[in-house]
Amino acid sequence: MAVGGLISRVGLDLAAFRVWELLRATDLRARLRNRRVRALAARELPLPPERLIVLVAGSPDLGWFVEGGKRAMESIRGALERNGAKLEDMQAVLDFGCGCGRVLRHCAGLQGPSLFGCDYNPELIAWSRRNLPFASFAVNDITPPLGWPDDSFDLVWALSVFTHLPEALQQHWLSELRRVLRPGGYILLTTQGAAYEASLSSEERAAFQRGELVVRAAGAPGTNLCSAFHPEQYIRERLAPGFDLLEFVPEGASGNPHQDQILLRKR
Ligand SMILES: C[S@@+](CC[C@H](N)C(=O)[O-])C[C@H]1O[C@@H](n2cnc3c(N)ncnc32)[C@H](O)[C@@H]1O
Repeated sequence: MAVGGLISRVGLDLAAFRVWELLRATDLRARLRNRRVRALAARELPLPPERLIVLVAGSPDLGWFVEGGKRAMESIRGALERNGAKLEDMQAVLDFGCGCGRVLRHCAGLQGPSLFGCDYNPELIAWSRRNLPFASFAVNDITPPLGWPDDSFDLVWALSVFTHLPEALQQHWLSELRRVLRPGGYILLTTQGAAYEASLSSEERAAFQRGELVVRAAGAPGTNLCSAFHPEQYIRERLAPGFDLLEFVPEGASGNPHQDQILLRKR
């Protein structure tokens, strides 16, 4: 009974959240601003419709979709370079939870690695396949596995994806991403940390301060309604067995403002 109640509560919250996402996507002022961005970008890669932008960025702002993706790419490059690695020297990289290619689109023309993206939302992947021909895309399930063999990638990044997964799924996915990474390969994650403490309830904040992972709406995994908050202590001590933590940069994810950026290396 208690579990049934929990599920239907999450179901209702999710239905309301979906309506909110749709309303965000039809915001008239944002659409007018976006028309200017679309006109300016007419000769570049196609830009996704507002409904898909809201799914990956939480806002229909196309200017930010482009600028935020660019900053995210710079942020990934920065972390690699600080740790003696370079994107151009890699053979294959994966954007896990790539959405409609907000970040990958800034790799068009990149010399070096083959580019891959995957997401559990087939609509986002269908758009990416049609419009970002320089990368290969795959749909995965909300739970592992991925379709690639062991040791396929030099780098996997997952920007604001573990922020929407409950604890058990985070652990399963980290171990699956570890499988598809070659030894010595990198994972770059972004998470919601201390910068979000003020938005937590007093009970959540107490758990966060004890170093516990806080997850809201765990019954809606993968959606933006599900929200995870990672204390630094949890990241350092519990998040990623089998990896070395190379870097933890508080609010370092410049394409995902206020999120922390974490660089891990497979042992
Ligand atoms: C907040 S969006 C971020 C999208 C993209 N990483 C970016 O920075 O623009 C979270 C993305 O993670 C995807 N996602 C959530 N759970 C997933 C899972 N289990 N497997 C693959 N993708 C997932 C969602 O569909 C969504 O595209």
